[in-house]
Amino acid sequence: MRIILCGFGVVGQSLAKLLASRADDLYKKYSIKPKVVAVSDSKGYIIDKQGVNLIKTIESKQKFGTITKYHDNNKYDYSSSNLIDNIESDILIETTPSNYEDAEPGMTNIITAMKKKMHVISVNKGPLALAFPSLTEMARHNKIILRFSGTVGGGTPILNYAKNSLYGEKILSFSGILNGTTNYILTKIEHGMTFNSALADARKKGYVEANESLDLDGLDSAAKLVILANWIMGMKVTLSDISINGIRNINQNDIRTASKNHCVLKLISQCNQKLNVGLQEIHHNDPLCVDGTLNAISFTSEHSGTQTIIGHGAGGIETASSIIRDMINIKQNIPNNEI
Ligand SMILES: NC(=O)c1ccc[n+]([C@@H]2O[C@H](COP(=O)([O-])OP(=O)(O)OC[C@H]3O[C@@H](n4cnc5c(N)ncnc54)[C@H](OP(=O)(O)O)[C@@H]3O)[C@@H](O)[C@H]2O)c1
Repeated sequence: MRIILCGFGVVGQSLAKLLASRADDLYKKYSIKPKVVAVSDSKGYIIDKQGVNLIKTIESKQKFGTITKYHDNNKYDYSSSNLIDNIESDILIETTPSNYEDAEPGMTNIITAMKKKMHVISVNKGPLALAFPSLTEMARHNKIILRFSGTVGGGTPILNYAKNSLYGEKILSFSGILNGTTNYILTKIEHGMTFNSALADARKKGYVEANESLDLDGLDSAAKLVILANWIMGMKVTLSDISINGIRNINQNDIRTASKNHCVLKLISQCNQKLNVGLQEIHHNDPLCVDGTLNAISFTSEHSGTQTIIGHGAGGIETASSIIRDMINIKQNIPNNEI
């Protein structure tokens, strides 16, 4: 299984560690022999058709801040999409930053890979949030598999649960907490901190995105809602179809009112008649009432009632493990197991 890995940050490096440490296990259990033939970060790329040495790549990244010192003879003039166009590979793993303006560079990377009939695993939410219906259509047209387990719930298999464990059921609606950072901030506020000190605390712990608006203004939650609505409910929606309100406007009055109702305020992503993200009162006894960085989502289906799945929604190694899950899924779903 030849792989091009775009992006070598928290998730990319965690994946490299997992692939290096789980090589025997992946082969014995799933007959998968992953060979990373190229890796890129924002400064360049490395190529090794025999298989990039992943440990050496991590060392190069940690020592020099870039992977490009791995070889002495690198050219630096390829973009990731040139790389995908020019190197033969079976799978693209997309781990560049999520961007909700134009979804680049992930969008071009994914489209280039699909045109080359490569399967794609994306943990990057940007392209899916802006163009889920057309990307899945393009995957179908090119007869390739597009997987994205890590985009919602990190290592907690929210998408797989709804798609596979509730197979045959009709999911009528769902709602949940899909962003651990805002849930952490709201939990701290509930315990008496001001918004600013809770935000500062979350920043100190490394929970807040470099562009904090993605968390605070609800964009990250909305992107995940788009992915769920398309994948689980069969809707054809993008980010512009979501009504989005973040947590910046939280005020003491609303917190007091919630408390009187035995509730707390949570940032809820909801797919009912409408798709929206916003603060809602959640009762203390509701399984969605989870604290800290936890995510929780309740699916209500026609015959099975409401079920809630709870887990940590982010983290490099957790998200990397979701990529491995997707690799196994691709291997098992392609004709003749040919990669
Ligand atoms: N971290 C999590 O827990 C988590 C969970 C679920 C999903 N995700 C998603 O996974 C993706 C990666 O997250 P992360 O935490 O690993 O982010 P990160 O640490 O910021 O890593 C992003 C990587 O992309 C590289 N990059 C940026 N622009 C590029 C370009 N034009 N071409 C090639 N590489 C480029 C960066 O290069 P440099 O290293 O040179 O800056 C970096 O290596 C994001 O889309 C994020 O939303 C993350």
